[in-house]
Amino acid sequence: MSLPSPIAVSGATGLVGAALCQSLEQQGVEVRRLVRSRPAADSADIYWKPADGEIDRDKLAGVQAVVHLAGEPIASGRWSPAKKQAIAASRIEGTRLLATTLAGLEPRPGVLVSASAVGFYGDRGSHPVDENSPPGRGFLAETCVAWESETRPAWEAGIRVVQTRTGVVLSPKGGALAMMLTPFKLGLGGVLGDGRQYMSWITLADMVAAIEHCLANEGVAGAVNAVSPHPVTNREFTKTLGRVLGRPTVMRVPAFALRAAVGEMADEALLAGAAVQPTRLLETGYRFQDPALDPALRRVLGE
Ligand SMILES: NC(=O)c1ccc[n+]([C@@H]2O[C@H](COP(=O)([O-])OP(=O)(O)OC[C@H]3O[C@@H](n4cnc5c(N)ncnc54)[C@H](OP(=O)(O)O)[C@@H]3O)[C@@H](O)[C@H]2O)c1
Repeated sequence: MSLPSPIAVSGATGLVGAALCQSLEQQGVEVRRLVRSRPAADSADIYWKPADGEIDRDKLAGVQAVVHLAGEPIASGRWSPAKKQAIAASRIEGTRLLATTLAGLEPRPGVLVSASAVGFYGDRGSHPVDENSPPGRGFLAETCVAWESETRPAWEAGIRVVQTRTGVVLSPKGGALAMMLTPFKLGLGGVLGDGRQYMSWITLADMVAAIEHCLANEGVAGAVNAVSPHPVTNREFTKTLGRVLGRPTVMRVPAFALRAAVGEMADEALLAGAAVQPTRLLETGYRFQDPALDPALRRVLGE
């Protein structure tokens, strides 16, 4: 696989960004991190402040590719109106700033890989969806549509743009799985609501490799579902994680208790979901390291 270099990465301190930067650097790629506090003058880091529309354009010169992962965390804390505003605005304003800046560079980078989420599809029951499916309804779906559409200036300027519609990224180092581990290890893990909502997931190793696949392959463009080929219901996920950890999962968290605890996020992200298929990744030759949940969890938790 031939990766471009240098690559600029936003959200580089996050769960996906940190693992991606490490992997790229191990392969000899020069990584320039977009950072939100002013770096030292001799640092390769690139200053940006998406909320104020500020970006150090000069330091983007010569960059061959950009991976844009930055955004206010979605699953931390209750969704107050201010939190929802931060979730949407950080993605929309950040993507707009980056895409318009890249469009104005000469020469321009060849590719922009910009994060999106399977929240794009909304709540679809057990009906499988892929990249050709229309968006769903609700705050997350509307945010994903707006987030993706802000990449347009880069696309119109001739940059290959890929939007990675990402499922729940599984890693013990952060994100949803890390949050679940303590209650599950205490035997307090349980099905959420009726447990029939689908959860589309991907391991952190596959997430990093899928982004690298999108960077390296000229034929990949547009929306790409970054999910394993085997989505599961919440009930199946719960039972599998309990089995892998050797702990019981007899608890059930009723919908009203979830709503009381986390507000609107319960109906949007925990009690809803879609069985998302990685059609574009498979069509373009991507091979999953972790296609099935049980062995994936055993590998990830044994790391
Ligand atoms: N992890 C998942 O399960 C999952 C699922 C679906 C979609 N995604 C999407 O994939 C992307 C990367 O996910 P991740 O899990 O690595 O995210 P993460 O761990 O929450 O990291 C996101 C990074 O964005 C930057 N950031 C945080 N708040 C910000 C704000 N208000 N404005 C601008 N930048 C901000 C921070 O990086 P700096 O401090 O370095 O700027 C942070 O480390 C995100 O856009 C996320 O929505 C993730």
